[in-house]
Amino acid sequence: ELSETTAELLDRRPGTLRGERRPSLGFVPTMGALHEGHAALVRSAHEDNDVVVASIFVNPLQFGERTDLQRYPRQLDQDVELLAGCGAEVVFAPSETVMYPDGPPLVSLNSGALGERFEGAARPGHFDGMLTVVAKLLHLAAPTVDAGFRCYFGQKDAQQLALIRRMVRDLDFPAEIVAVPTVRTADGLALSSRNRFLTAAEGEAALVLSRALRLLEGRAERQEPLDLDSAVALVTSQPLVELDYFEVVHPSTLEPLAFNCRQTPFTGEALALIAAKVGSVRLIDNAPLGS
Ligand code: PAJ
Repeated sequence: ELSETTAELLDRRPGTLRGERRPSLGFVPTMGALHEGHAALVRSAHEDNDVVVASIFVNPLQFGERTDLQRYPRQLDQDVELLAGCGAEVVFAPSETVMYPDGPPLVSLNSGALGERFEGAARPGHFDGMLTVVAKLLHLAAPTVDAGFRCYFGQKDAQQLALIRRMVRDLDFPAEIVAVPTVRTADGLALSSRNRFLTAAEGEAALVLSRALRLLEGRAERQEPLDLDSAVALVTSQPLVELDYFEVVHPSTLEPLAFNCRQTPFTGEALALIAAKVGSVRLIDNAPLGS
């Protein structure tokens, strides 16, 4: 049992034995095919907590087509090595039958209106499946001893993060959600397990996404009008990139905010969300704007 393993590890911590402070568990759920983005999550968890658990599970519930699920890269040995190197003590890599012994769950989570827009519109049911597995993983990993429980998610998947925060609030999960900033290549491309499917020319073209986001970040920092339309034009000028959406939204409700005009200076907080197809690869990126 995962929770018994972590309870034992937490019990053995020197501070815990002396009763000096409440120990804590850091949990990092993943689907494997790990890169430096995942590593950043594990390192943050390692800095903040006594014990770090990572999970690797390619969750069939959050994939639309079976072909997408089958195409998902699997490299367990390499992943375990990366996790151990960043400070994870336990790797939980369950099989599909361990996670769903009775087949697809009869009772599952509904991500509501927040799960229907943006990525949810492109991938119907995706966020319901994602929340259902995250809920299960949080239950499996939650400490059985009196310990803190922090769970780490990447800012890279902003809508996923917003939904998980909402689930934890709505359903009173005893977990603190920690967001880790997006890790990028030196030239700005957000790391993703899908980047391996880009050709060299597509990889070059894909840089326009982060370039457009940086444009908005600069304007937000200077409290200038965001002028979203000009950022959209930058992206659509790139022939290899087929823009799906590019919106400035409220950071937690993801309700669109009217920032495309050229007059109103930017104030407050917002989130710029972008998704595009580059070749056959769907890419997403985002930038938190404002304080
Ligand atoms: P996966 O795509 O493997 O991502 C695992 C975690 O790594 C997520 O929290 C994601 O936001 C984060 N991540 C991915 N790329 C990142 C980057 N470039 N910088 C920072 N963090 C990054 O997201 C999932 O798996 C699944 O939906 C999951 C939550 C595990 C549920 O199945």
